[in-house]
Amino acid sequence: MKPDPLADAGSYKFGQFEKNAEELDRLKLQATLALDTEKNVWESAGLTPGMHVLDIACGPGFTACELAKVVGETGQVTGVDLNEELIAVAHQAKASEGVENITFSIGNIYELTLPENSFDFVYARFVFQHLENPELALENIRQVLKPGGTLCVLDIDDNWTSFSPESDAFVQFIRQTGAGQKRKGGNRLIGSQLYGLLSHAGLQNVSTRIWPLTSEEIGIRYFLGVAVLFRVELTTKLQKLLALPALRKIKKASKSPNAWGAVGIFVTTGQKPE
Ligand SMILES: C[S@@+](CC[C@H](N)C(=O)[O-])C[C@H]1O[C@@H](n2cnc3c(N)ncnc32)[C@H](O)[C@@H]1O
Repeated sequence: MKPDPLADAGSYKFGQFEKNAEELDRLKLQATLALDTEKNVWESAGLTPGMHVLDIACGPGFTACELAKVVGETGQVTGVDLNEELIAVAHQAKASEGVENITFSIGNIYELTLPENSFDFVYARFVFQHLENPELALENIRQVLKPGGTLCVLDIDDNWTSFSPESDAFVQFIRQTGAGQKRKGGNRLIGSQLYGLLSHAGLQNVSTRIWPLTSEEIGIRYFLGVAVLFRVELTTKLQKLLALPALRKIKKASKSPNAWGAVGIFVTTGQKPE
């Protein structure tokens, strides 16, 4: 039997979802909806023109293209992802965005073949929640960072998400789908664990900040689409079945003019010692 090329993709196996086209649309929305705020996050983390950047687990490359625009002609972005299908989309994104200073390749965060000490800035966006072995991933990232280089990890934590009305149904849905993702190797409580993980990996000046994203900024429809409903794709069949009644209540409640939701996006940075 052929080995599964996505065996190391933890709880994110694009191509094996029920609705792959919809998931790709969601990734695009997620990369564009709050881009201005995300650019401020990059600036605060120390990203500047001229840097060599690794976007690890870059997926369809939408964010990598934006990073390439920020580092400019004197900088360079390398996007790496395990998923061949997503890397093909990333090549298309590069062509349609007309950015030259970017390369994409297939690669596994657990077996990086990139040269050591070669990146000023490594960006890991919404991948750590899917990883079974974040310690090994961090060890590999540390190796490819230049001394003094920065790792910036962006991820979620289910203790930092809320919705009203039907708050109880929402909590139930978050718990059920979170448990399902855990069974698939993921971890939806990773956000608050990043501080300890980066420190343990030997990075310095580790800091975690929480970027609050509310439905007031992006609209309740997008809040549900980007931050909530897709979660059924990441869960097991059983947890999905269990979560469906709560999901129905949430969908109905989202039509209320008073519907409101928020998610805290965890941003953890750390530097490789000089
Ligand atoms: C939720 S997507 C995020 C993609 C992109 N960073 C973004 O923010 O749009 C998670 C990505 O992690 C990738 N991934 C999961 N495990 C990986 C591994 N072991 N090595 C490399 N990429 C991996 C998946 O293929 C997927 O593209």
